Amino acid sequence: MDSYLNTIFNEDAVDGFKRIPDASVDLIIADPPYSLGKDYGNESDKLKASDYLLWMERWIDSALPKLKPNGCLYIFLTWRFSPEIFVMLKQRMQMMNEIIWDRRVPSMGGSVRSFTSVHDTIGFFVNGKGYYFDLDAVRIPYDAETKKARSRSIFVGAKWLEIGYNPKDLWSVSRIHKCDPERADHPTQKPLEIIDRMINASCPPDGIVLDPFMGSGTTAVSARRCGRNFVGFELNPDYCAISEQRLASSEAQLMPKKNQPTEPVRGKNQSKQKLLEF
Ligand SMILES: C[S@@+](CC[C@H](N)C(=O)[O-])C[C@H]1O[C@@H](n2cnc3c(N)ncnc32)[C@H](O)[C@@H]1O
Repeated sequence: MDSYLNTIFNEDAVDGFKRIPDASVDLIIADPPYSLGKDYGNESDKLKASDYLLWMERWIDSALPKLKPNGCLYIFLTWRFSPEIFVMLKQRMQMMNEIIWDRRVPSMGGSVRSFTSVHDTIGFFVNGKGYYFDLDAVRIPYDAETKKARSRSIFVGAKWLEIGYNPKDLWSVSRIHKCDPERADHPTQKPLEIIDRMINASCPPDGIVLDPFMGSGTTAVSARRCGRNFVGFELNPDYCAISEQRLASSEAQLMPKKNQPTEPVRGKNQSKQKLLEF
């Protein structure tokens, strides 16, 4: 197996992309800073708008050559900058969906001069017509009530009723609350349920998922539990340590099914021998 696979490197993503051969990655899942001023233990979320857009363009142009010709990209954004970034990406790829992630935030007062924002915007882009998309892997089963309502003879045995429906472009998945068992110590951790859906739909089994901004390692955990490989980058060493812990406990849960060892999180200058194995 290639030495960079199943590894999170504690380094800047644009530097790190050089480790990865061109046209080798099946799927990029990117959850970059949104330019909201959040504290990731670095200044990455504190760029002013014009610098932020330049930086986004820079890493996108360094990442896209890594994708295979039939590769896909999901990118998490906020409504503040998704228009500019979608225009930029549409000059480079084909846009398939704008997915709205409804974070299911309860009403808590919120804004008084505008409507309260409770969603993230996700762009789904593909490299070309032959892109990988496994709808059957992500279908949602119909509930018993719907099936019963479709019990007229014309529906009996209908394949679509048995195999479930195509998820819509509104994904209503609760954000990870402080007391959620999935919760890690990261301010913008994404739910595994969302990343699992992206990987199962858009990366073939045993394929490679690249996440330039690993944060707490959600993409890495999801890739392993879905039977895919990952590679990723994260500036903050504390988040790398969190990813390492999450991967270890997820691997322990998967142990009976496990057939491939997972590489540990590695700092820029660490040799492989010094690292903890999962
Ligand atoms: C929105 S968070 C990602 C959260 C992640 N999806 C999760 O579920 O935990 C963005 C992360 O990107 C990291 N980051 C920012 N700039 C970076 C860069 N140039 N290279 C690598 N990581 C970076 C930040 O430290 C932060 O943890």
